[in-house]
Amino acid sequence: MSLTLSVIGCGYLGAVHAASMAELGHTVIGIDTDADKVEALNKGNAPFFEPGLDELLQKTIKTGRLRFSTDFADAAGATVHFLAVGTPQLTDSHAADTRYVDAAIGALLTVLSPGDLVAGKSTVPVGTAAALADRISAAVPGAILAWNPEFLREGFALKDTMAPDRLVYGLPEGESGQRARELLNEVYAAALAAGTPLIEADYATAELVKVSANAFLATKISFINAMAEIAEVVGADVTLLADAIGHDARIGRRFLNAGIGFGGGCLPKDIRAFSSRAAELGRSESVAFLAEVDAINLRRRQRAVDLAITAIGKRPSEARIAVLGLAFKPDSDDVRDSPGLDVATSLLRRGAHVVATDPQAIENARRLQPRLDYAATAEEAAAHADAVVLVTEWADYRALDPVALRAIVTSPIIIDGRNCLDAGAWRAAGWTYVGMGRR
Ligand code: UDX
Repeated sequence: MSLTLSVIGCGYLGAVHAASMAELGHTVIGIDTDADKVEALNKGNAPFFEPGLDELLQKTIKTGRLRFSTDFADAAGATVHFLAVGTPQLTDSHAADTRYVDAAIGALLTVLSPGDLVAGKSTVPVGTAAALADRISAAVPGAILAWNPEFLREGFALKDTMAPDRLVYGLPEGESGQRARELLNEVYAAALAAGTPLIEADYATAELVKVSANAFLATKISFINAMAEIAEVVGADVTLLADAIGHDARIGRRFLNAGIGFGGGCLPKDIRAFSSRAAELGRSESVAFLAEVDAINLRRRQRAVDLAITAIGKRPSEARIAVLGLAFKPDSDDVRDSPGLDVATSLLRRGAHVVATDPQAIENARRLQPRLDYAATAEEAAAHADAVVLVTEWADYRALDPVALRAIVTSPIIIDGRNCLDAGAWRAAGWTYVGMGRR
């Protein structure tokens, strides 16, 4: 059965969720306070790059089941209200800024009716849901809160939303929990029919599932990057090491790619917010390792800068360096906490003339870092370069022809910040190939 849903907050998570829910047959109103974003979304243009999203927006808007608005009153009448606003890092601490969640709930209270369900999707400090539930039931008796975290990855966001690896419901006890379960089961009927595992839990567990999943992924990446640091000292190869340990099914090869580390709008801020919340709970020591995970991660960016400058062998101020990639990962235009943009900026600070490129992220990068030079293509960036530094493993960059590129650079030095190139092929074409944690 199809439902009427609202999605509060139409950033990455919310816009994808709204379009995906409409595709599944529900009627959806997306609410956002940013009028420009709402106008663009109503025309079927996502304000960020996500493969397939514009097409899905256009298709579902045409059916009449999807619409976006700045007016909270338009959310009235929806049975399930998804809360999808951001929880960025506070500027003066590592804690999450929950003011948008608080504001969204405040606005929702004006449109909620008894029996309506608010389904929280935002990543919040554990304990938030219980407090919000009290606030909701005090203002609108009979309205219910569930916590329903998402695990979508940028670049795979539509698939991750419509066919997730698992569903998690954080439910209250008793009858309201039963109503919340039934409504969420209707929302996700297609995924459940396809056999998607469902975990039902209390609020705190549901909140913790999200942050602990991201903490685990960050730890896995920093673990292999720590091995890269050791490999560099003893002349070992971290890529072969990852292949070897990854064959152990208990370890697994995914998220064991050493390089310049993790970035983006989630992993870095989520591990910091988790540490901050654990300290508030008097359990700093339980996640003290996350500070080390963060530190290892940031060291690898610096390591790439040092490797580039050492390989060039002349003063950075005399060097022209091409940086390939600005997005925090391929198939995204997101430059939030991007390791690649950070490397480019550090090289610039060291005095180099940096020419950076990216298939999608130049405009976003330019806003944050107007002092970098930007080129439209890898070839334009690499022309007359003293070194080429690959920082985001876009398919186009992995497929670059080392022979053709050799002809346009000044010095054939390649720093492979993502260990994604065929070192043998680049060396055979005359390049000095420098990987991360590789001989
Ligand atoms: C992440 C989680 O994966 C997702 O489940 C959650 O909902 C949001 O946060 P995302 O931020 O889209 O998703 O990126 P992800 O694919 O996890 O990559 C994060 C970063 O880790 C990227 O910068 C990527 O380049 C880096 N990474 C990933 C590595 O350095 N090595 C790896 O082996 C894998």
